[in-house]
Amino acid sequence: MNIPILRIPFPEDEKRFINQKINEVLDSGVLTMGKYTQEFEELFRRFIGSRYAVSTSNCTVALEIIIRSLGIEGKSIIIPTNTFMATAYAVMQSGNKVIFADSDRDTLSLYPKDLRKRIDPDTAAVVLVHIGGVITPDYYEIKKICEENNLYLIEDCAHAFGCSIDGKNAGLLGVAGAFSFFPTKVVTTGEGGMITTDDEDVYKNAMMIRNHGKNPAMGNRMSQFGYNYRLSEITAVIGIQQMRKAAEIAAARKEVASIYDRLLADNGHVRPLSVPSNMASTYYKYIAFLPEGCDRSKVKRIMKEKYGVSLTGEVYADPCHTEPIWKEYTYCGKLRNNGRAVGCTRWPGCGCKTLQDGFPEATYLSNHHICLPLYPGLTEKECVYVVHSLLETVRNKAATAF
Ligand SMILES: Cc1ncc(COP(=O)(O)O)c(C=O)c1O
Repeated sequence: MNIPILRIPFPEDEKRFINQKINEVLDSGVLTMGKYTQEFEELFRRFIGSRYAVSTSNCTVALEIIIRSLGIEGKSIIIPTNTFMATAYAVMQSGNKVIFADSDRDTLSLYPKDLRKRIDPDTAAVVLVHIGGVITPDYYEIKKICEENNLYLIEDCAHAFGCSIDGKNAGLLGVAGAFSFFPTKVVTTGEGGMITTDDEDVYKNAMMIRNHGKNPAMGNRMSQFGYNYRLSEITAVIGIQQMRKAAEIAAARKEVASIYDRLLADNGHVRPLSVPSNMASTYYKYIAFLPEGCDRSKVKRIMKEKYGVSLTGEVYADPCHTEPIWKEYTYCGKLRNNGRAVGCTRWPGCGCKTLQDGFPEATYLSNHHICLPLYPGLTEKECVYVVHSLLETVRNKAATAF
């Protein structure tokens, strides 16, 4: 059996819908910022339950736009080291400094004890990343810490479309949330992103910043430091199709996860991450922990070569603070230039001279987890085969010992 990392099903009727709308777009001559972009935003806004939704060309810039919309510049922003580097890039591109925090091995997320330690006098915000589609049960405590310290809570929802905690959707848990429509994501438009917010000022600023800073109240003169972060009408059409089947996609993913839960229960070798009981996940990833001493790269190789099963990418195999980029760049995104930090007015007072370190939980997490293939259409038979191959592999001595 061959089980690929990913299948993105676009059945014939959905392709017909997309093609017909794309033809309409081409005939209309309105190829960007038209009615389909608005419709996509409206469908998304309603699905999440936010007052506003602003589409963007991807999630990386959606995060950057949120930070700019809040007027945060020349400050520090705390993000987990266990995230995709896009979270860090958004902080740096918006003119701020990254402070990494540790990520709890059980929640994959920031945790209060460590977060409190990382707050600096110039810290303006915290980005909570719902890794793998898991919202940490510490969310309430993290929100409280932000309120007590006057910090904005921003959500990186790249993994968390359709996830909720106590019935409240990701994208509504902070001042604003950023979503990704990259092909691996729960809903996809190839490339694309979305901002959700209830804050009118953030909404208005975001609308301007994504469109070269044009201010509709000033006859579209440029009153903001903007850029081109727009989505095209053709991409929006795919987004509309995805939103029409969003509930179906979410249900299908949950179904696959529940099959894995059942098959892996009490197996004594591989421990699935337990998703907190007060949250609903759409399982961007199905995460499990390998037994102590088991070599993940060997497990992945054996599963691929012997069984034809591709495990998906981890979230994440390398915590961000270990990326080689930090030897070249400061945490504010300036070239280090042999210890001179080009263009940094705060150097060395910004603290970037010392490399950030000390993230034991994130290091454990990065080294020990795997992600099973999970997508709509994966059959029960295929799940049984994945689990059977995995358990055979980890029981086999060849896959143990580093
Ligand atoms: C946690 C996280 N944040 C942000 C991004 C950036 O998303 P995009 O590729 O849409 O810019 C990703 C992409 O994988 C991600 O995983």
